[in-house]
Amino acid sequence: METDRLLRELTDFLRIPSVSTLPAHNADCRAAAEWVAGELRRLGCREVQFLASGTHPVVWGVGPDVPGAPTLLLYGHYDVQPPDPLAEWTTPPFEPTVRDGKLFARGSADDKGQVFCLLKAIEATGRPPVNLRFLIEGEEEHGSRVLFELLRREPERTRADVVLIADMSYVAPKWPAVYTTLRGLCYAEITVRTAKSDLHSGEFGGAAPNAHEELVRLLARLKTPDGKIHVPGLYSAVRRPSKAELATWKSLPFKEAEFLKHRVQARALTGLKAYSVLERLWALPTLEIHGIMGGFTGEGAKTVIPAEAKAKVSLRLVPDQKLKVVERQLTAAVKRLAPKYVQASIEFLHGADPATVRVTHPAFKLLDQAFREVVGRGTVPARAGGSIPVVPALGRSGAPVILTGIGLPDDRLHAPNEKLDLKQLWDGIKVFRRFYELLGTKGV
Ligand code: BES
Ligand code: MN
Ligand code: MN
Repeated sequence: METDRLLRELTDFLRIPSVSTLPAHNADCRAAAEWVAGELRRLGCREVQFLASGTHPVVWGVGPDVPGAPTLLLYGHYDVQPPDPLAEWTTPPFEPTVRDGKLFARGSADDKGQVFCLLKAIEATGRPPVNLRFLIEGEEEHGSRVLFELLRREPERTRADVVLIADMSYVAPKWPAVYTTLRGLCYAEITVRTAKSDLHSGEFGGAAPNAHEELVRLLARLKTPDGKIHVPGLYSAVRRPSKAELATWKSLPFKEAEFLKHRVQARALTGLKAYSVLERLWALPTLEIHGIMGGFTGEGAKTVIPAEAKAKVSLRLVPDQKLKVVERQLTAAVKRLAPKYVQASIEFLHGADPATVRVTHPAFKLLDQAFREVVGRGTVPARAGGSIPVVPALGRSGAPVILTGIGLPDDRLHAPNEKLDLKQLWDGIKVFRRFYELLGTKGV
């Protein structure tokens, strides 16, 4: 493999700061979309188009016609999460750097490096052995609203025999995986207002309500210290994994103590202790506070009673919870927990239903074989804690959605010093190349 050239090309892609959630990077998102479009043209696509280009465009491509061969739809995203806190990066996030066989850059694993892997695997086949369709979007990290709308208007875009997504990781080094569920997401901003405007804390302190105090009390009541979320009705749709599934998880190379020490790097794990860590990560809903805003946070001291405070929170959802239902439940819980004299309101920023995929379709066997041949072990079925909003929509036409990836659990997605092990990339190119060939020759 011409690894030097490939590394140079991936570096060009990673250098583009395509942060979809920050308007200042709109032009960069477009540049990343152009980069993808250029690659699709080089692969001989007979159609390359920007769809829904009001915002970050969805790059649509149709590969060369291969009569009689199955159709494979590849999904991925070229957008990345913001890189902050910048000071914690050893080398800057958009100056890709190789250290110790690992490529450090924002997007190296999530998901530009993996999109690159899928594309270069096609290049490696010489001539694509299957009919290819591409949907590479630029708003995944932002809730995928544009692609959602597009697929609602034009569901025929997902018409394919198989959908392949490489936006995940192995469950452990040398343990490739396919994923049977993704968690959903309900992202909200809660606002608390207690007075018309801020007040002097000496003049009014002791008799006037404080917005921050009310907000933190409300937030603290949304979850008990042992990890149970206090949103009435929230757990009623949650389906426990089967005994058989829980048993398979026990055989995975996952050690709670090691997870705490090397991945979480905290003093203790939290959450519902009656359930294993994997069940808490993969099969139970969560509630996280992402940030609290308002009041006085500047330098020095200011004696003020804030009149307004806001919090960004999100819940992860699991099968069979529904986003719309959870939105109603959270709204009701917030209203109920706020005292009468507090105005509490909630706004939903984005969200996604959880996804479930069955891994019984023959295409999964072909991917399993490809991994077995290249890395010496086939795919284990696992679940994922993260979300990819459009997955349910991509599977709506009935095609199996293969959720897999070439990352490793310690890639630090969304965090400083995100990386991709180059060995994973080179292996990944061989794996997907083999998968395309098997799909083309054996069919499904
Ligand atoms: N690739 C991740 C999803 C993922 C992460 C799946 C880890 C499995 C394990 C994806 O890019 C992502 O980060 N999604 C967001 C979606 C959200 C912003 C709507 C997420 O999960 O927070
Ligand atoms: Mn991703
Ligand atoms: Mn991500």
